[in-house]
Amino acid sequence: MTEYETHEHDVVVIGAGGAGLRAAIEASAAGANVAMICKSMLGKAHTVMAEGGAAAALANKDHRDSWQTHFRDTMKGGKYLGDWRMAQIHAQQAPDRIRELEQWGAVFDRTPKGLTSQRNFGGHTYPRLAHIGDATGLELIRTLQQKGIHTGMEVFMEYTVRRLFTTNGRISGCFAYNRTDGSLHLFKAKTIVLATGGITRCWEVCSGSWEYTGEGHALAYWIGAEIGDMEFVQFHPTGMIWPPSVKGILVTEGVRGEGGMLTNSKGDRFMFDYVPEMYRDEFADTEEEALAWVDEVVSGKLATKRRPPELLTRDVVAKAINSERDSGRASEHGGAYLDISWRDPEEVKKKLPGMYHQFMELAAVDITKQPMEVGPTAHYVMGGVKVDPFSQESTIPGLFAAGEAATGLHGANRLGGNSLSDLIVFGKIAGEQASIAASEIDGFLDIDNSEIESVIAETLAPLDRTNGENPAKVVEDLREMMQNKVGIIRTKDLLEEALDDLDKLEKRAEKTSAGGGRIYNPGWHQALEIGAMIDVSRMCTLAALNREESRGGHTRDDFPTPDHKHWGKINSVITKQQDGSMSIDYTTYPPISSELKGLLDANDLHEEEE
Ligand code: FUM
Repeated sequence: MTEYETHEHDVVVIGAGGAGLRAAIEASAAGANVAMICKSMLGKAHTVMAEGGAAAALANKDHRDSWQTHFRDTMKGGKYLGDWRMAQIHAQQAPDRIRELEQWGAVFDRTPKGLTSQRNFGGHTYPRLAHIGDATGLELIRTLQQKGIHTGMEVFMEYTVRRLFTTNGRISGCFAYNRTDGSLHLFKAKTIVLATGGITRCWEVCSGSWEYTGEGHALAYWIGAEIGDMEFVQFHPTGMIWPPSVKGILVTEGVRGEGGMLTNSKGDRFMFDYVPEMYRDEFADTEEEALAWVDEVVSGKLATKRRPPELLTRDVVAKAINSERDSGRASEHGGAYLDISWRDPEEVKKKLPGMYHQFMELAAVDITKQPMEVGPTAHYVMGGVKVDPFSQESTIPGLFAAGEAATGLHGANRLGGNSLSDLIVFGKIAGEQASIAASEIDGFLDIDNSEIESVIAETLAPLDRTNGENPAKVVEDLREMMQNKVGIIRTKDLLEEALDDLDKLEKRAEKTSAGGGRIYNPGWHQALEIGAMIDVSRMCTLAALNREESRGGHTRDDFPTPDHKHWGKINSVITKQQDGSMSIDYTTYPPISSELKGLLDANDLHEEEE
């Protein structure tokens, strides 16, 4: 049998972004022997792509804010498909997690009074995003990494996990390979926390880093865990679109939070035409009112006017940019113009230093003088592993999930800034609960040898195959197909075609040859990633085909309106069947308590239609 090394840890955390680091810190602090497995180098995580801030009702900029308003905004932004229990925990605990980060050394921007500064973001009623310029995710990772490496956890960098194992239905370990030297590793574990992030590399235009190939979602699915809400994919409205080499790179929502205005090729501020009914009372419908809001905010007053429509939720703004393009009013390179140049140049450089340099260096655009060109980019998946809201345990005992790998908090659409706070709130809970569960188990469960042999054979197969297709070509075709057929606007015909295409891509993937050996072989890594990419793409497509309505991050051209009575009440659940097929079913969360229901906008609940 091919050689492999065996490791034993109470808790194995897979993924080293915000959720993984926060979970590992908590589990280590509780005395567990923790392994942290990173696909990339420690400190290099997609978390850095949440640039504009972390949402928490600290009420530093506006005393009217509270966890209750944050709860309400999150449920509304998610079009009422989120798990209200997670939304409550998140809104209540986010402020403490931010204060804790400060104690651990995070250097947040300050208000003139020396409090943690907060900025406006889409769908948040008040300025709520604690931020560090436009590099909040980076500072969050830096802080957690600094804290984490002193807790005694063992870090395995540049390892990819290929399989999770269960023994008698309970998690018992995982198998990984080292990407640099090709060595093989068995991790025996009492509990595992999946914190692998998202799946957006399955789309051609995305803000995701190369690690974002959906392994976490697929690993859980392959061992029978329930995966929910996969039809809901967030296209961030503002990615770079020019030059082509940088297409998809994130342009933070912080630009709009600081007063950035969106215009089309005719110079019209088109977002006024796209304010949905449910947000009519909250958003300005004239340019004068929107400008008055900006004046109040810039001068540091409490905003009394209604917010500018650029601060609508991401699903709304992304679709508006798409519609303007389809109506022939796109910017020069097919998107929209985003202009912050009306503000004092020094303020722009201070508040958005990353954006200033990004556009100057990558596009030769000085954003203090010229508008940026932007368009939608696949940014986030609201779907993921279904978890218990209080423990983050999945439907497989001993397997926990947190952050983007899990589902529940964000419903049909995530509010910007709720990702960083999600990571630290639920990462902590997952780490704490995983360590408690591990402490209740004596010794390590046996893992079936035949399962280990099978994953080794599968892992090495692309190296043994000759004359097969280049895996990079299959990945490229998959991403192009998902962009064209499972993008922002979907139809039955395109989704059915996409499912057929995925079957064909799967057959091609089975025959790819990696070429070369096990050391530093990117072709091999890609050949191994395709399986997960195909399965997560299939989950999104299947769930999107079934949901015959439009809601949040899922828009059907053939069912353009929300169906509150039926679809507005149920969440999709995907599972793997005994025969290997993918099946879909629907579930609901328990009824919301009347106290919390009282915080929601009664009109949005459509109860009169019951
Ligand atoms: O636009 C942004 O800065 C992204 C933030 C987020 O996704 O939460």
